[in-house]
Amino acid sequence: MRFLGRTCVSLSKCCFSLSFFLFASLCSAADLTGNWVVAQPNATDGTIRKTYFDLKQDGAKITGHIRVTQFYYSIKESTGGPDAFTLTGSMMDGHNERTVKYEGKLVGDELQLGTRRNADAPLTSLVAQRAPAGEGAYPAKLPLPALHKVPDNGLARTPPMGWNSWNKFAGRVDDAGVRGMADAMASNGMKEAGYIYVNIDDTWEAGRDAKGNILTNKKFPDMKALADYVHSKGLKIGIYSSPGPETCAGYPGTYGHEEQDAKTWAAWGIDYIKYDWCSARNIYSDEEMQAVYQEMGDALRAAGRPIVYSLCQYGRADVWKWGPDVGGNLWRTTGDIRDTWASMTNIGFKQDQLAPWAKPGHFNDPDMLEIGNGGMNDDEYRTHMSLWSILAAPLLAGNDLRDVPQNIMAILTNRDVIAIDQDKAAKQGSRVWQSGDQEIWVRQLDGGDRAVAIFNRGAAPAPVDTQVAKLKPGRIRDLWTHKEEVLEAGPHPVTVPAHGVVLWRVK
Ligand code: GLA
Repeated sequence: MRFLGRTCVSLSKCCFSLSFFLFASLCSAADLTGNWVVAQPNATDGTIRKTYFDLKQDGAKITGHIRVTQFYYSIKESTGGPDAFTLTGSMMDGHNERTVKYEGKLVGDELQLGTRRNADAPLTSLVAQRAPAGEGAYPAKLPLPALHKVPDNGLARTPPMGWNSWNKFAGRVDDAGVRGMADAMASNGMKEAGYIYVNIDDTWEAGRDAKGNILTNKKFPDMKALADYVHSKGLKIGIYSSPGPETCAGYPGTYGHEEQDAKTWAAWGIDYIKYDWCSARNIYSDEEMQAVYQEMGDALRAAGRPIVYSLCQYGRADVWKWGPDVGGNLWRTTGDIRDTWASMTNIGFKQDQLAPWAKPGHFNDPDMLEIGNGGMNDDEYRTHMSLWSILAAPLLAGNDLRDVPQNIMAILTNRDVIAIDQDKAAKQGSRVWQSGDQEIWVRQLDGGDRAVAIFNRGAAPAPVDTQVAKLKPGRIRDLWTHKEEVLEAGPHPVTVPAHGVVLWRVK
């Protein structure tokens, strides 16, 4: 009402002869100024997603902010007014600009809004109501600690192996599903092959209680009981959060609750945390990332439980140079993988330069596996598994483990290939030769063996004479056919399937 009164002062002619309540509704149509909220309940998990539009209309110009999921935009362009307007929000994501567009109109005391994911996408309609001033305002920046070295936690001497919910289930992960994955992993041969961590990714969070303790949503009624269950299978359990106020999917993050959340996770029995930058981008610069991640490294240490610390900030700010210093066991080196040949190879074959940074307890993470999710054929999935093993990458399966076809299980549990990934020298391999679509990568193994991968990124089978890579002679075990032969000096031709690989252990 105060806001309506203020509007009417500036429109005194129109308002003059009307009673306050009459002109309030009339004049409210003249101004978009105010704090507006779209509240979208999620029936599955019981949470409510709130999107805030904090607007100031000044004649034909609308300014202000839009806070939606993990994003906080400043309005940089607007057109129109209450009867029909458009807003363009802009924010910096590292060094890249990100924008969002809304169109809308004021109808009575509601904002009717529309937005599209991209220019060709269908319009999503939303309705915003007035919210109290300040509700949903972005939190102020909290001070960061001075940099220091967080001691090594002694975990993950070889790359972590397990499963993560995101690639297959995204927001559909729940307690029953996680129990199902643990049951499967413990009984289908994966546990024996080395897969141990059952990791819950984003969308388990609800809000906080009066004391600030993080709460789980309806999908996870009792996290401690779930952790006990996973442990009873001889497995370990992981969880997910963000150093920002929101996770990437727009659920509550850890911002301002670092020690408290680390203690909560420890009390639940959590063994692994993936800590995802997301909305921290709205508060901190890339240059401040190290201190932000260090804060959680210290908090995990203070929580007193061994917890693998997985940094997820998409490979920004040369994370491989400081990941170990903040107590990190692994750090993502890229954006998100998708279940396509193009995505997997664009990520995997670009990891070459990062080899020097991998060592026991500290690994480059080119993202989770897509093997078995249906977007690639078996040769392509064998390339995925071989390349990740050459890279000493974490092997976190991303498929539904409750029903894995035999061909996929054979790829995921190939012990010879896993032995390459899990080699205790923990040296990451790199490219030694490339010509067009064919490449040869070598990884030095403990005790002097070498893993040699001959990749064919082309769409037709290709002959490669491995002599080109000047490999040292030795006894070869082909890790996909399990046949043995001898590699001598001189020509050694192989035929590599389309989008496929020949993977050797050379003794
Ligand atoms: C980011 C991460 C993904 C996943 C989602 C969850 O995109 O990179 O791996 O954790 O967030 O929202």
